[in-house]
Amino acid sequence: MAQYLTARGHEVSGIDAGFRREWVAEMGGRSALPVASVEERLDAFESAYDRRPHLVQGDLTDKDVVYRLFEDVRPEAIVHLGECPSAPYSMIDADHAIWVQRNNIEGTMNVLYAMRDLAPEAHLVKLGTMGEYGTPNLDIPEGFFEIEYRGRRDRLPFPRQAGSWYHWSKVHDSNNVMFACRIFGLRATDVMQGVVYGTRFFGSAADHPADPALHTRLDFDQAFGTALNRFCCQSVIGEPLTLFGLGNQRRGFLPICDSMQCLTLAVDNPPEAGDYRVFNQFEETYTISELAAKVAAVASGMGLDPRIRRIENPRKEMEEHHYNPDHDHLPALGYQPTRDMDSELRAMLEDLLPHQDRIAAKRDVLLPDIRWDGSRRRSAFLDKAASLDAGNGAGTGSAAETANHDQPGQVEPMVDPVLARAR
Ligand SMILES: NC(=O)c1ccc[n+]([C@@H]2O[C@H](COP(=O)([O-])OP(=O)(O)OC[C@H]3O[C@@H](n4cnc5c(N)ncnc54)[C@H](O)[C@@H]3O)[C@@H](O)[C@H]2O)c1
Repeated sequence: MAQYLTARGHEVSGIDAGFRREWVAEMGGRSALPVASVEERLDAFESAYDRRPHLVQGDLTDKDVVYRLFEDVRPEAIVHLGECPSAPYSMIDADHAIWVQRNNIEGTMNVLYAMRDLAPEAHLVKLGTMGEYGTPNLDIPEGFFEIEYRGRRDRLPFPRQAGSWYHWSKVHDSNNVMFACRIFGLRATDVMQGVVYGTRFFGSAADHPADPALHTRLDFDQAFGTALNRFCCQSVIGEPLTLFGLGNQRRGFLPICDSMQCLTLAVDNPPEAGDYRVFNQFEETYTISELAAKVAAVASGMGLDPRIRRIENPRKEMEEHHYNPDHDHLPALGYQPTRDMDSELRAMLEDLLPHQDRIAAKRDVLLPDIRWDGSRRRSAFLDKAASLDAGNGAGTGSAAETANHDQPGQVEPMVDPVLARAR
């Protein structure tokens, strides 16, 4: 984001506690793309953009740190990305659940109070998530809807039905940001972001920084790697692409460069003082099976041999559901998708292929064992082939070889255990 905004002439300051590196290490993972140290990244930034960004290493839950930053910078806009973004991480146990909620909610509260006291005219662009809405059996509006109840009408926040402690932390944030706009007269855009994917954060390939120290990270562990990241990493090391359960869960997705474009559009078009607005930020919706098939098709076009398999779903979520969210506000501001999923997937696989060994050495972290019921057990395969023996090192390739797949992207037929029990 700092690179994207700087390249467009903005002066950028930032704060980060460096938690992401610690969380991924705690999960036994590491970024598939090597990540330089913070100092090296700042040096590379300075060489590329002719200015060194003002970066504070600090914790947003420390009120004094946040106030000091606001006093130094007096921001015109704040893009607030600084939260723990992982549903599985928040579901590990009570300590992780409480830590994620405190981290996310307290950090945002400090930002809201610092805005009130030191930058009341600033515009907060706050990262929420489409996961706040859950999967209601209704179309999903952008934040608010008109409702008639017992003969009276009102415009109310659309009910949220989050599916993890992490997602609930984002719901609580949304309520707090909305309330702060009302009582402090702040202005905010709450961005309900879909799943972001990709490795190239500029819309034009020519702008992709040559220096690897400026590249983004890409995690593939169960907590910090999204399904698409995992599918791409699985493809490049010859592991099966693992779908959770039926794979019919539908979600909204957008490439990282278009996330940058949307957030910049929000920054450049602030709402009026006192306004709290909500943008649903995604480009297209896909089921997880459709995603896996897309990755498999692109990967096999590049000479890889992807296979798709189903594993037990460690989450409690609806696997068959209605999903039709609105997303009109950003196009109304001028948002135009720059890259389609196939070209983005090709770029991701090209970027990952040189790091096959680095990914393969950490293949154990690809299969989930954090379960929504609070237990910790590696998900078993649900299709006919022999289960992967996670205890003896997940993903040695043997399970993939025993699967009977002739066509790339074809999924083994399965009997859903829950449906089977219901019959
Ligand atoms: N990546 C996605 O697909 C996605 C989808 C929807 C919403 N979001 C939201 O976007 C935001 C960024 O997500 P991301 O995937 O880029 O995550 P990320 O982990 O890469 O970025 C979050 C950054 O915030 C920092 N951070 C966290 N808590 C902090 C604190 N208390 N003080 C200082 N720094 C702190 C972390 O160190 C990390 O660098 C999050 O708010 C997330 O909920 C992400």
